[in-house]
Amino acid sequence: MKHGWRLAAAAAAAALALGAGPAGAAEAGDVAQRVEALLRQMTLEEKVGQLNQLSGKEFTGPATDKVRSMETEIRSGRVGSMLNIKGVPDTRRLQALALQSRLKIPLLFGLDVIHGYQTVFPVPLGESASWDMEEIEESSRIAAREAAGSGIHWTFAPMVDVGRDPRWGRVMEGAGEDSYLGARIAAARVRGFQGKQLGGVESVMATAKHFATYGAAIAGRDYNAVDMSEHLLHETYLPPFKAALDAGAATFMNAFNTLNGIPATAHSGLQRDILKGAWGFKGFVVSDWGSVREMVVHGYAADLPDAAAKALVAGSDMDMESNAYSTGLAAQVRAGKVPEALVDDAVRRVLAKKFELGLFDDPYRFSNAERERAALNDPRHRQAARRIAGKSIVLLKNEKAALPLRRGLGSIAVIGPLADARRDLEGGWIVKSDAANLASLVDAVREQAGPGTRVTYAPGCDVACRDDRGFKAALDAASAADAVVLAVGESWDMSGEAKSRADIGLPGRQSELFDALRAIGKTPVVVMMAGRPMTFENVAEQADAILYAWFAGSEGARAIADVLFGAVNPSAKLPMSFPRNLGQVPISYQQYETGRPVRDEKNIVYKSAYIDSPNTPRYAFGHGLSYTRFAYRDLRLSASAMAPNGKLTLSFTLANTGKVAGAEVVQLYLRDPLASVVRPVKELKGFQRIELQPGQQKTVSFSIDRDTLAFHNRKLEWVAEPGKFELMVGSASDDIRLRDSITLTER
Ligand code: NOJ
Repeated sequence: MKHGWRLAAAAAAAALALGAGPAGAAEAGDVAQRVEALLRQMTLEEKVGQLNQLSGKEFTGPATDKVRSMETEIRSGRVGSMLNIKGVPDTRRLQALALQSRLKIPLLFGLDVIHGYQTVFPVPLGESASWDMEEIEESSRIAAREAAGSGIHWTFAPMVDVGRDPRWGRVMEGAGEDSYLGARIAAARVRGFQGKQLGGVESVMATAKHFATYGAAIAGRDYNAVDMSEHLLHETYLPPFKAALDAGAATFMNAFNTLNGIPATAHSGLQRDILKGAWGFKGFVVSDWGSVREMVVHGYAADLPDAAAKALVAGSDMDMESNAYSTGLAAQVRAGKVPEALVDDAVRRVLAKKFELGLFDDPYRFSNAERERAALNDPRHRQAARRIAGKSIVLLKNEKAALPLRRGLGSIAVIGPLADARRDLEGGWIVKSDAANLASLVDAVREQAGPGTRVTYAPGCDVACRDDRGFKAALDAASAADAVVLAVGESWDMSGEAKSRADIGLPGRQSELFDALRAIGKTPVVVMMAGRPMTFENVAEQADAILYAWFAGSEGARAIADVLFGAVNPSAKLPMSFPRNLGQVPISYQQYETGRPVRDEKNIVYKSAYIDSPNTPRYAFGHGLSYTRFAYRDLRLSASAMAPNGKLTLSFTLANTGKVAGAEVVQLYLRDPLASVVRPVKELKGFQRIELQPGQQKTVSFSIDRDTLAFHNRKLEWVAEPGKFELMVGSASDDIRLRDSITLTER
């Protein structure tokens, strides 16, 4: 019966007088016709079915209370999409059920493939620290290849929410605090997941999520309300979404939060006016898990049918796990509360994607055991994971030449609660954890230290580190060693969804372990693992070397060892500011000048300051060190003035003046010092990752045009106002090496 669906689908196609095209991506005009023909055949219940998404047994949210037979629902055409189903046998089995429905419309299988499917890459925030768009695209491609072979059509990624509050656990899934960097990364991830065109069997549809402002939850508490000006929304929170859309993102997911009192799920200003209106988005919007239902809890909808009506009317096309559309939408249409034309529009959007993916031509084309096996066992994927992890690890501090470690040391003690961790290396949102087969940091140091070096291990405590009973063994190991590596930080499940923290310090007594080592005269090299920026003042002040490794993935430990021993020269830069203390949160380098700015930390009387903390972060956005040094020289401008339609080029010379090869992420910042709306003191406007051999130098150029200088004015128009602009080039937002200014002329 393997080809039974073909006969069925062919019969359906003949009935619709459509003709079966070749398997593969369908042409746009052709798709529109096929969608219309199919839509004409559909009952209202079948239409609503296409907008209903249900989860398989592995839940990624709170269970809904409805008991149902999923199989019956699918067979009756009351389900358009499933999430949390994976692998060839399961996706084929459920697809076969959908093909028993009257119109034989295939299911879409969506899954949270966030930073890898089987091969795990660094968590997205960590990978963002690479500032390497090719690598970010590559890791998404690999994730897509592995997922697509296993029957997945659609990933709920990338999360493009700007995050400026490290208490919010989901900063781990994003690209950090900056809208420009976030937009570039959003586009790279969409390109990686979707490939050249939807319909390729090694690609999956991407989802730009969570539309919108989910990252600005009050007090960093997950799912909390958001209150935000229109200006900040347009300037900072929307651009990564627009970039994802421009890169072709097939779908959007809305958000759990309310924005200025309106749930994002029923926010027609966001979904209808901006996304589907001004931006012309042709794909479909899926709700977040249960977010339609939760509008009743918010106090915005009276009951489930009311929630369904409000969400659909506001532009939420598909209902994920609320059972709201399936329960109430048809009745709301019949009662005249929801125009059927809006339901039709939503259904068209969903069906179009199914056609574009080629599912009507071959509903099983993504579930392919042979391709799945090949993709999941491709050794190049692990190699890429190691390479990309190496580019994501940030060298925060390196004094007294503590790093890289010398080879040929007599002994190294690797201690700390994360020294022998495996599962934690993978971070949250793992599709197929393979922790047992990963190298831990202890393993990786053993592999690379060489046969003459004795490597010892003692954890000191577990991650929660509630007591110091294990400290003595760790101190004994350390005191006998020539070098000490201390691995501290969060466990994998301390960051991610519903993992907000009110204290972002090192958990429990971990920092006392560091102090105890210092007390016996051993200053360890500190490796930190986490899904967010943490606060760790005493370590920051007293350690000689700190590597921030995030949750670095399947090959994360080997990548850390590569950096520890200098096989990889670190080049990553922070995508989020690291505060000194929680009181500075939320924090971003993109501040606005006050009337009383602090120019000198020693003079803060009547200044915009804290009396008990500097304003500056511990580690600034864009910060990250290297084992070599880079000199920035000779800033040149092709012209000092530019007309509104003009362009100019900023160039400078970057030289590697150290002894080893390395890569520098050079950053271009802008300030508009006088404008009709006060502009931030610094805004990232460009960056490039430049690799240089020792002694080598290169000319680096950035092109500047109106768009570089523009912002949203009071009427939210995108304008560049004539006048002076300051340009700054540097190695971090707080390490500007070169400056100049230009003038934008009236005409
Ligand atoms: C809720 C999360 O907010 C969202 O990002 C995810 O895609 C869905 N659950 C599905 O698991």
